[in-house]
Amino acid sequence: MRIAVCPGSFDPVTLGHIDVIRRARSMFDRVLVVVAVNAGKTPLFSLDTRVALVQDAVAGLDGVEVVAVPGLLADFLASSGACAVVKGVRGSADIAAEVPMALMNRHLSQVETIFVAADPTLSHISSSLVKDVARHHGPVDDLVSAAVRDELHTAFGLER
Ligand code: PNS
Repeated sequence: MRIAVCPGSFDPVTLGHIDVIRRARSMFDRVLVVVAVNAGKTPLFSLDTRVALVQDAVAGLDGVEVVAVPGLLADFLASSGACAVVKGVRGSADIAAEVPMALMNRHLSQVETIFVAADPTLSHISSSLVKDVARHHGPVDDLVSAAVRDELHTAFGLER
């Protein structure tokens, strides 16, 4: 049983994240989606809401589970039996941000990180841009799940 972890802050989960999770599942027997805390970001949604939205988005995916990890990712990697972290990268800015985390996670847990290149049809999507579009009442239907769209509408005072 080969287990991969897909970690992120998922604030909120996007169709780009779901594509990476699907692709991780095509390479591993089981995928644990870890909703974690990024100390450099102030989330819009609570950890519980982010977990619920990811659970809804991956509900149809066999072999995929969602876990909240409020602490150190490396500790979870060591205890979960995961043999890899899988992360999507959209370009050089993502690589610059992700490589130091991959190296630190390997240092702490000996677990390697595998990067998958974002699907070009989804590489314009980021959680922060989705929030910015929604904040200004722009359309997000083809960027996120219906549940995330509804939650964004509620957060930014729009009718559901
Ligand atoms: O989606 P993000 O914000 O790029 O994900 C980053 C995240 C949440 C995976 C990272 O900040 C993280 O692993 N946080 C948990 C705490 C931790 O382990 N910090 C050290 C990272 S090397």
